[in-house]
This record gives sequence, C-alpha cells and structure tokens, in this order.
Amino acid sequence: MPKTIIISNRLPIKVQRTEDKLTYESSEGGLATGLGSIYKTDDNIWIGWPGTYFTDEAEQQQVTKDLAEQSMYPVFLTEAEIRDFYEGFSNETLWPTFHYFNQYAIYEDTFWEAYQQVNQKFCRAVMELANPGDTIWVHDYQLLLLPNLIREEMTESTIGFFQHIPFPSYEIFRLLPWREQILKGMLGADLIGFHTYDDARHFLSSVSRIVGLNTAQGLIDNGYRSIMVDAFPMGIDDEKYASLASSEETKSKIEEYREALQEQKIILSIDRLDYSKGIPQRLQAFELFLKEHPEFQGKVTLFMLVVPSRDQVETYRQLKETIDELVGRINSSYRTITWNPIQYFYRSFPIEELSALYSIADIALVTPMRDGMNLVCKEYIASKLDKKGVLVLSEMAGASRELADALLINPNDLGQLVQAIHAALTMPEDEQTMRMEHMQDIVRRYNIHHWVEIFMNRLDYIKVKQQSMA
Ligand code: UDP
Ligand code: G6P
Repeated sequence: MPKTIIISNRLPIKVQRTEDKLTYESSEGGLATGLGSIYKTDDNIWIGWPGTYFTDEAEQQQVTKDLAEQSMYPVFLTEAEIRDFYEGFSNETLWPTFHYFNQYAIYEDTFWEAYQQVNQKFCRAVMELANPGDTIWVHDYQLLLLPNLIREEMTESTIGFFQHIPFPSYEIFRLLPWREQILKGMLGADLIGFHTYDDARHFLSSVSRIVGLNTAQGLIDNGYRSIMVDAFPMGIDDEKYASLASSEETKSKIEEYREALQEQKIILSIDRLDYSKGIPQRLQAFELFLKEHPEFQGKVTLFMLVVPSRDQVETYRQLKETIDELVGRINSSYRTITWNPIQYFYRSFPIEELSALYSIADIALVTPMRDGMNLVCKEYIASKLDKKGVLVLSEMAGASRELADALLINPNDLGQLVQAIHAALTMPEDEQTMRMEHMQDIVRRYNIHHWVEIFMNRLDYIKVKQQSMA
C-alpha cells in the first residue's frame, strides 16, 4: 500500500532531556502545528529532527522507538550540524534572505557545506523508508536540496515540495552565492507550492533568470519533466480550535482570566521570538497609542506571548534584549498600582491556554514585517465562537491575501498601526460580527484538510500530465 512520506527539518514533536529523563512535547511553528494535527491519517509517516542533540546510542534508540509508535522517524543532527546547518545556513543565511532581511544574512562556505551534507543525510533517511509508488512530500527552506537528491536516487518518484516561508523577489534571491544550486535542488520536485501567488511568481522569475529555463503558465520544462509551480495558502484545523474554545477546560481558564482582568480590554500578541514578526514595532505602536489616547490608560492590557526560538543565533539574542528593554520601559512609564500595560511572557503555552486567550482577546495584533502565511491569526478567528473581536493584520503576512476583513496595516507605519488599534477598540459590535463571520467562512472553507487535498490532487495531475507528454 503506497504511503505519503512527509519530511521536514523539525518533527511535530520535540524531544527533551530533563534530569536524565526523555520528555515529548509539541513543537511550535506553523508547519508543525498545521500538519501535525492531520498527518496521522492513512499510513503517512514523518521524517525529521527531534530538536535536541543526542550522542548516546541507547538514548537515540529509545527516541527512535518512542517516535516510531507515532509514525515518526528521527534524523539525529550532530552538534556541528546544528550549528552550521540549522542555526547557520538555514537560519542565518536563508531565513533572513527569504524574509527580506538580507542585511542579517551571513554568507559562509562552512554553512553551505553543512547544508549540503545534512540534506544528503535526510536523503539517506528517505531512501531507507521509501518504496516505489510512495508520495514524497518535502517541506520548507531547510531542505531545498532534498527534492533533487531524492530524484537522483529514485528517478520515477512522485515528489512534492512546499515552502512555508516567503520566496523573495529575484533582486533579493540573486544575492545568495549558491542561488543556482538551490533552485536546481528545488526543481527535483514535480510540484512546488508556496503560500501566495507572489511567492510563486518570484520563484518562477528566479528560475527563468538564473537557471535559464522556460516558465510558462506556472509550468517549468527542464527538458525531462514538466514541473508545476502554484500557490496553496495553508489553512488550519478550524474544528479543533472551535471545539477547544467550547471545552470545559478553556471555559474555566476564561473565567479565571476574566476575574483577574476585570473590565480590561485585551489585546493579544503571539509569536515565536523572531525579527520577521515585528515585535519591537508593535510595542512602539502600543506605547504611542497609550500616549496619544490617555483615556485608554488603565483600560487596556497587551498580552504578549513570545515563544523562545533559535536562541543561539545572535540576531535572535539581540532581539530578546530589545524586547525586554522596551517592555520594561513601557511598563515602568505607564503602570499604576493596579494596572500593568503589558503582560509579557517568554515561554510557550499549552494549547488550552492559547485557546482561552484567543477566546477572550478583544483584538489580535498580528503585525509581522514579513510572514509566509501566519497561522496565529487564523487560530484567533476559528476560536471566536461569539463572533466578536477584531483582527489587526499586516499586509506583509501571506494571510492578508485571504483575510480582507481584517484591519490591514503596513507594519512600518506606526501612525497607521496606532489608528488601527484605536479603530479596533472602538469598533461597533455589529461591524465586528460582520467582519468576523466573513473571515470565519474563509478559515472554515480553506482549512488544512482542503489544503492537503488540493496539493495532493495537483501532484497527481502533474504526474499524469508528465506521462502524457513523455
Ligand atoms: N504556538 C504554540 N505554542 C505557543 C504559541 C504558539 O504552539 O506557546 C503555535 C501557534 O498556535 C501557531 C504556531 O505556533 O500554530 C505559529 O505559527 P505561525 O504560522 O503563526 O508562525 P511561525 O512560528 O510558523 O513563523
Ligand atoms: C517556521 C518555519 C518552520 C520551523 C518553525 C519553527 O514556521 O517555517 O520550518 O520549523 O518556524 O522554527 P524552528 O527553527 O524552531 O524549527
């Protein structure tokens, strides 16, 4: 029976070693949370890194055995690979470049070497588990070379690739010294998916200018195969968030929070610690809002959840310091004995608590400088059972293409952001409901099941088309 093999750098479960004991927790990040809730259907398996460095053979065997029970297969990374492949090439070269922060990008040959080697390591893991007829689905920027590595080993295989982060314009992408090898790596796939049409368009333009291939109507002809490129905006498991919001556990959390917060209006902000998320700009806008609208002082609280991420990378470390300082300054300037403007948390939260926060928040502030999609804003919408609440959303998030009923802002325009916070806090309830209903309709219709189905149908379609052209 053919199966689907999902491959991503990070598994949806992260394994940690605490006091000589192994613990298993859910991973953060849109790829893991989005696909994590559905991959177990059929005979799917998932290959990826369990998130911790293991040297001990017995420990590795234990992790492998435990994960196999959930159809997951670990690829263990050495300390040097974590440094040069994961923190290095993936997150200090590709991540900043693809998010238009090319001033942060480091071009380092040792990182590139490690990137190639780890992609080969993933390829070996796929070869151990793949059978002819299986569908291979590679995910995200850490594994851009993998599609072609697999193609070289299994010429006839069916390979899909999906990129969860933006694909930058040619003018940015061309800055990478390894641009051609990267594109050729991706072109090993039969279907290449992005969240938005702009990402797909940027990719096609780089392929035609850098690799010199013909790209017409989303099809690339490499002389052997026709490769399809398209946009597939990722959705969420909306039913999971709706039913969580009505669960007893969430309800009792909501009551607890309400009691503590009394009549306060709540603005919610949830992100991994990442410069692409625009967290300092959001804090500055909130500070300016309090200054320009003193009537809201004491009446509104910003709940800011920052989930630790990539904390060994220097730019992330510096960002943490900037955020700590800004929160400290705003709180110490505006707080009173009975009110703290910002409730700041630097940790991850269990999903029931996230659900309670989504339910209770009057406003969600989702204002990234760049974001492939952003699932947090969709989770907020799916959790709003009473259809009240306002989403303030950055134009630079992929989700803004679908959620036109949010208050859309440019995150660089602090004045516009302040106005949007004010408009959201004073929006009449019937307008909130109207906007929320429209957005819920979209989040419900284009959910994660729909996303997988459309991607897989397209992959089948291009395989049939390739055969008819052969
Ligand atoms: N998230 C989580 N734990 C937390 C806070 C957030 O698992 O404490 C999840 C959140 O529910 C969402 C994901 O992390 O599903 C973030 O995905 P998004 O697409 O918004 O951004 P990314 O982190 O992938 O850049
Ligand atoms: C984003 C990326 C994922 C990544 C996640 C968490 O969602 O698209 O590929 O897994 O961030 O980042 P991390 O570096 O912790 O895996």
